[in-house]
Amino acid sequence: MAGVLTEKIKDLKQQFRLSASQIIDIATKFESEMVAGLASHGSLKMLRTFMQKPGGKETGTFITIDFGGTNIRLQLVNLLGKGRYEIIRQQSFLLKHPYGAYDYTSQEAAAEDLFDFIAVQIGELAEQGQTYPLGLTFSFPCRQLEANRAVLISWTKEFKTSGVEGQEITGLLEKALAKRGLSQVIPAAIINDTTGTLLAASYGNPHADIGSICGTGHNTCYLEPMEPATRVPMMINMESGNFNKFPLTTYDQALDRASEKPGEQLLEKAVSGRYIGEVARLILQDMTQARLLFQANPPGFVANINSITAGDLAQILADDTQDLTRISHLLKTNGNILILTTEELKALKTIASLVATRSARLVAATYIGILRHIDPGLTQQHVIGVDGSLFEKMPGYRTMVQEVLQEIYQDKADRISLVLTKDGSGVGAAIAAATCAGRR
Ligand code: GLC
Repeated sequence: MAGVLTEKIKDLKQQFRLSASQIIDIATKFESEMVAGLASHGSLKMLRTFMQKPGGKETGTFITIDFGGTNIRLQLVNLLGKGRYEIIRQQSFLLKHPYGAYDYTSQEAAAEDLFDFIAVQIGELAEQGQTYPLGLTFSFPCRQLEANRAVLISWTKEFKTSGVEGQEITGLLEKALAKRGLSQVIPAAIINDTTGTLLAASYGNPHADIGSICGTGHNTCYLEPMEPATRVPMMINMESGNFNKFPLTTYDQALDRASEKPGEQLLEKAVSGRYIGEVARLILQDMTQARLLFQANPPGFVANINSITAGDLAQILADDTQDLTRISHLLKTNGNILILTTEELKALKTIASLVATRSARLVAATYIGILRHIDPGLTQQHVIGVDGSLFEKMPGYRTMVQEVLQEIYQDKADRISLVLTKDGSGVGAAIAAATCAGRR
């Protein structure tokens, strides 16, 4: 039995590990897809943002909305210039009630319900008689018409709200604000969270030219030195979660088939927090069915879709005890599994590690693809601003991304800094609103 389990783990390692030469191959394909995307074909949408690097002089008070997952965050942000800011007030609310009382992300909810709900919350933040420029971070693929007008191309991250795809988002929000008598709140900019992260990173650091999210979703934005239509530097939201030129395992294929939009967002489905727990669950299900794990009593959760989260993987990876007692405890409390052999516990940790490591290495390969495009000889300094729960909380994640850069660029790798950029969706949106308010 132990032998068969060892064989299976070996096979999984083969499927999930990415060698340095595979990384280079993926980076090369990523770069070609960037070039193709700028010419409007391929897997990368390469969306224009109308944003350039901030000068650092942007100041003022702004309301910002961070709309990118089921948790929406509103902030009142005061920009002080040169990278300094303060968050005066903030509040969060859920679009999906934990016990099912409402769900504004479901197909049954209409655009109007969703934006009315958001406007009510804005009403609680805005003071009467005061005018607020608003920066909206809307973290889904949008075709940008101008800095404060953007049309949702299609939902991602399993959102399904009806009547939003194909609509101009700021207009929907303005309508809801007007209904509640909130016309003193004026949408000045709509941006993606990756753009927000890049704006926030470059507010205080002139070397920042890549902004990325490694959280519930995954995507990256960069400063294109020459945007083809305008022929000026412009931040481009790549929607890189849709990249698909990398090796897929049978587990990725199964996950994709069961997803809301099969065939789309394949990179995101292999790397992001919304999905990697499910990749691990599919592996466990396969191993349970082959009677390699949980033989005595297969636990119910193994058969239940989405029963393992990225947070669970983080807890498994954080267990540094010799006997993996924390993993045993987790399984006892959450899965009611009382007895596991040391081999089985080790196998669980290896699975979590393979899935998380592949995520970090794939993400790093895309960063290398971008760097090759903007600076082929890596002669400049680059700051990559990254936000998101995976980057921040998955044990070892950031180090693993860094290691790939080291493997590929060797002693030049110190020209690239990975910087955790918190609050990109809030502060970045405020910077965008400040830049646009200034342009008018
Ligand atoms: C999804 C969205 C993208 C966003 C990312 C991170 O990939 O399509 O717009 O940036 O999630 O939130």
